[in-house]
Amino acid sequence: MQTVITASTREAASYLRAGQTVIFPTETVYGLGANALDPEAVLKIYAAKNRPADNPLIVHVYNFWQVHQYAHNVPPYAERLMEKFMPGPFTILLPKKPIVPDATTAGSDKICLRMPSLAITQEFLRECSLPVAAPSANLSGKPSPTRWQDCLEDMDGRVAAILTGPDAMLGLESTIVDCTGSFPVLMRPGSVTFEDLRQVVPTAQLAEQLQNHQAPVLPGSKYRHYSPQATVEIISVVQNKVLELNQPFAYIGLTAPEKFFATVPAYQLVAKSVNEYAHSLFAFFRECDRRELPLIYAEATSEQGLGRALMNRLRKAAGS
Ligand code: TXA
Ligand code: MG
Repeated sequence: MQTVITASTREAASYLRAGQTVIFPTETVYGLGANALDPEAVLKIYAAKNRPADNPLIVHVYNFWQVHQYAHNVPPYAERLMEKFMPGPFTILLPKKPIVPDATTAGSDKICLRMPSLAITQEFLRECSLPVAAPSANLSGKPSPTRWQDCLEDMDGRVAAILTGPDAMLGLESTIVDCTGSFPVLMRPGSVTFEDLRQVVPTAQLAEQLQNHQAPVLPGSKYRHYSPQATVEIISVVQNKVLELNQPFAYIGLTAPEKFFATVPAYQLVAKSVNEYAHSLFAFFRECDRRELPLIYAEATSEQGLGRALMNRLRKAAGS
């Protein structure tokens, strides 16, 4: 398949409306989309990514009317969360209406819905006039792509079109909140933080803090995710020891590398803030892979605010 690269939302939407797959920008990471109401189109997403068939897809919409077309039994607290965080880097899990095919939700009777805030994404979704099922646009197991060029690296020849756009502003995937029970449960931390959720709905809980028997798990969380080829080690200044390394390595963190290493990293990124760290992480991982660096040290941050999402992705990358 010849992959068309276009800056035209109308052209990109024409491929999607014809049952093809289209990569598109969002404020979190790039998505690999297809018509969420067409099982055959949705299966093309799984094929392009080598994604396991039991891992459901987020459905992207551009207005609230659509949310109620595809989900029902929306609790009042979920309405408040949607009003506050949509459009934005926020995904809500709700009971699914039968109109959405099983292929989209991997057989689940629940559906993840997201309304991106990036203007070009909204324009694209409006041109599609369809709900768009889309996981992150990486090959399964690779870090989520934050630049269209990264999508091309993974997906050239595997999708019908790529809609080019800006580098992802946020760089980490959306916050996912399960709203199918009597209180919201944070399933995947993101730029909408746990503290943000609690401000709107004080009963919000962290999935990992619920008793095991009631703790829901995202199907996707059992797969190795967000991983560069390299081994990722999480380090922190409290360890207070200087490492002597005799192999090339990369470093990303907030602290100057001299605090950790007696030798100079082959590649490094010292971020000025947790925001910048989160924004740069996946692009950094991909650059390390291009440079074939076998080892990446990543500095731990606090688990407050966006730090919770950043630490979640670092742990996944480190396989811990
Ligand atoms: O920021 C984002 O959320 C990006 C952009 C493209 O919107 N998308 C994204 O999709 O990160 P993906 O597929 O890489 O991650 C979605 C996660 C997976 O872990 C999947 O298992 C879970 O959401 N998920 C999707 N639909 C679900 C459902 N119906 N029930 C439970 N989990 C679901
Ligand atoms: Mg993904």
